[in-house]
Amino acid sequence: MTMCGIVGYVGNNSAKDMIIDGLKSLEYRGYDSAGIALNAKGKIIVRKESGVIANLEKKIGKQDFDGNLGIGHTRWATHGSPIRENAHPHLSADGRIAIVHNGIIENYLELKAQLKKNHRIEFKSETDSEVIAHLIGAHYKGDLVEAVRKAVERMRGAYAVGAIAADEPDKIVAVRKDAPLIAGIGQDSNYLASDIPALLKYTRDIYLIENDEIVIITADDIKIYDEDMTRVRREVMHVTWDAAAAEKGGYEHFMKKEICEQPEGIRETLERRLDDRGDIKLDGVELTKKELDAIDRIYIVACGTASHAGMQGKALIERFAGIPTETDLASEFRYRNPLVNERTLFLCISQSGETLDTLEALREAKRKGARVLSICNVVGSSVARESDDVFYTWAGPEIAVASTKAYTTQLVCLYLIALYMGRERGVLPESEYRRMIEELRALPQKAEETLKTENQIRELAERFCIKEQIFYIGRGQDVGTAYEASLKLKEVSYINSFAIAAGELKHGTIALIRKQTLFFVLASQDALYEKMLSNIEEIKARSAHVVSIAKKGNRRIAKVSDETIFIPQCADEVAPILAVIPLQLLAYHIAKLKKRNIDKPRNLAKSVTVE
Ligand code: AGP
Repeated sequence: MTMCGIVGYVGNNSAKDMIIDGLKSLEYRGYDSAGIALNAKGKIIVRKESGVIANLEKKIGKQDFDGNLGIGHTRWATHGSPIRENAHPHLSADGRIAIVHNGIIENYLELKAQLKKNHRIEFKSETDSEVIAHLIGAHYKGDLVEAVRKAVERMRGAYAVGAIAADEPDKIVAVRKDAPLIAGIGQDSNYLASDIPALLKYTRDIYLIENDEIVIITADDIKIYDEDMTRVRREVMHVTWDAAAAEKGGYEHFMKKEICEQPEGIRETLERRLDDRGDIKLDGVELTKKELDAIDRIYIVACGTASHAGMQGKALIERFAGIPTETDLASEFRYRNPLVNERTLFLCISQSGETLDTLEALREAKRKGARVLSICNVVGSSVARESDDVFYTWAGPEIAVASTKAYTTQLVCLYLIALYMGRERGVLPESEYRRMIEELRALPQKAEETLKTENQIRELAERFCIKEQIFYIGRGQDVGTAYEASLKLKEVSYINSFAIAAGELKHGTIALIRKQTLFFVLASQDALYEKMLSNIEEIKARSAHVVSIAKKGNRRIAKVSDETIFIPQCADEVAPILAVIPLQLLAYHIAKLKKRNIDKPRNLAKSVTVE
């Protein structure tokens, strides 16, 4: 099985160069091996290497072979270790068909047993993907499309597959089910890829391939068919991203670049939805009073960082719109028979729009009759396409595995949705609505100001990078921020950290406090300020070291804490957007001092397209 990137090329130029280039553009996804298969004069040549793509490039650079058609792949290991044998492309038994695969073949053990028994096939890798090559090989009678279709009939699971055959040197055949796949339109050349950045240097015109579709790519044509082989007419999608947006733009790491892009991301996400009068436009999403009154419950479902945004969303929707809202982790929601029906609004949050747990939860909610509204950063992603309505974050491409700007723009979307709902339902006083709009409009500039804490944070990171564990506590909306700060630190620095609602400390976790145990205390909520002061006293009494995060002007907290990071004055409701920024910077600087692989931390990948 694989969680990986796919690139394919057919045209008049060097397939080798384009594919290596495309794979490099997908490096950000996280991978541990890479490979390429070319059709060179009717013969399939495969080269693979473990480790970075530069290893593969070095290996094939010296070799005198090329072709005008090929497929390439970056692999992130799950079924089988990250060794060369497990890297894609995989070959059929006679070596005349090669495939690359993104996804998981759930029944691969059963298929493997059948292929061994009926066709005496010897497997060369430990992957689930290799069965696809052999299945296609077993069905191949000179027609690759037909063989791929027959193979797909036997496969269960999620897949985006690209296949080439030695005897058909003019085409790539690809098929998708629940894993991203696009075809790129060039001049005398066409492309296949799992992700848009792989093609940005070559074309901005793409087709999004849908579930159960099969696509045949030749140098001068791209034909898409549904599962019954009826030709599908698809609109061309023109990608408007700036290519530079997918590069580091002078920063040492994508994570740092993306942290610094937050004021802009917040501004974009906000201003595109606010008109001059301060009225919110929901991008054409219809949520009338009648429709809202028909909703008796909202579920916010997501994974990881997006689920922390969801925690804030619950507080905002209940506070502004008065609709009972539950949050759940997508991986839990799917398996607990949730109480969902036609009166449920399912609010799904996903940066990538390809997280399998989130997608499956979305499908489950749809099956049960819920209306699905998604907050997503990737146009045309699976979550976006399968939702009834989408509200996009305008964060721009997020490349670092650790999510930063997607998180803060998800929060902006949640403010807008909650305020819109409250106003539409008539439960939010107009003065309150106006006050919040003013608070939101001030956020980009306040986020800029918050970024100026970086010098202080760098100095803290130098002292604290030797810590073996760090605690984050808060109350109210600060709990979600504590969770997010803790996850960020774990992901990029590999320091053990723990986030907890401050009131819960005394119920057990307080036993862990020793002299100099490090606490980051989030105290951005004026309404809970006194309570947080008591929490600080409680942990200081046990000789812990306390760094507080509070709004400017809160002098008392500075007196009781060992040190304080100040964020600009703002309403409690919007403080989570500002309070998380210094803690993102802290995770980044500690990781940098510890010389971690910041943009691609170990064991992690950008989009988790497996369970
Ligand atoms: C965030 O830093 C993590 N890399 C991870 O928790 C992520 O937020 C999660 O996997 C969900 O991803 P999504 O937003 O793309 O669905």
